Amino acid sequence: MPKTLLGLIGHPLGHSLSPQMHNEQFGRLGIDGYYHLFDIREEELEKGVQALRQLGAAGFNITIPHKVNVMNYIDRLDPSAEKIGAVNTVVREKDALVGYNTDGEGYLESLLAIRSLDQIKNANILVIGAGGAARAVCYALSLRGPESITIVNRTQEKAEQLKSHLKNAAAVRVAAKEEAESRNHEFDILINTTSIGMSPEINKSPWSLENVKASALCSDLIYNPWETRWLKDAREAGLDTLNGSGMFVNQGALAFKYWTGEEPDRQAMQALVEDHLKGENNA
Ligand code: ATR
Repeated sequence: MPKTLLGLIGHPLGHSLSPQMHNEQFGRLGIDGYYHLFDIREEELEKGVQALRQLGAAGFNITIPHKVNVMNYIDRLDPSAEKIGAVNTVVREKDALVGYNTDGEGYLESLLAIRSLDQIKNANILVIGAGGAARAVCYALSLRGPESITIVNRTQEKAEQLKSHLKNAAAVRVAAKEEAESRNHEFDILINTTSIGMSPEINKSPWSLENVKASALCSDLIYNPWETRWLKDAREAGLDTLNGSGMFVNQGALAFKYWTGEEPDRQAMQALVEDHLKGENNA
């Protein structure tokens, strides 16, 4: 068995790129580690976490549908996971399993590649969706105190709940879709956190681009397809765009650092993800 055992628990796992991304870094850095996929059903979650604990795993990532329930079976939460209300990374610290959330900071780091911190602070931001990914993104954004965050969700009540958890300096509001779309000219950063645009509905778009200002950035958390219909339309309209691959890479890189204490090569991780996904299944 490798010295550093890691992995991803979720169900169904499909074709996750996490094992390749992490295992390539182990090779590069000369770490005796291995990142596995553990397809674990909801009813097996407790046993699965116990098994990883007994095997002495250095940690693991968590994906759908366990990001919330896993909190019942670990020992404590880092504030990142506590505030977001979901865990995507567990780290073994001495004998305790500690839950972190690296999705929000991972997203923010990807945003900082295309917008400065000052631009983020001065931005009026639109967040489409109010699920787990939106919670992580909104929390990380709200810590930077942007001018405003407007949350729009199909189920408005969930947007209200998300707003009530964001107690930071940013002005957070909840709006109905039609009302917010009519204020498109106000937004500097528009972020789609829903699955609209993913296979099989690759021709659907989550948001109108009408009257969006020329300097705006459209950011989609989806990265498969690499360029969603919405991002393609935005790019063709001359807007800046950002897909979700940077968030995926950065959340993994942050987890890697917690587990190993070493900084992985993020450019190589990004290149690996691009090699696998760019040009595939595009709308
Ligand atoms: P994730 O962890 O990826 O954020 P999630 O917690 O299930 O996943 O959240 C999915 C989000 O996408 C929710 O905001 C959901 O809206 P509801 O709260 O109304 O369910 C949104 N979403 C998914 N499919 C959608 C669709 N076809 N139209 C509008 N919103 C959709």
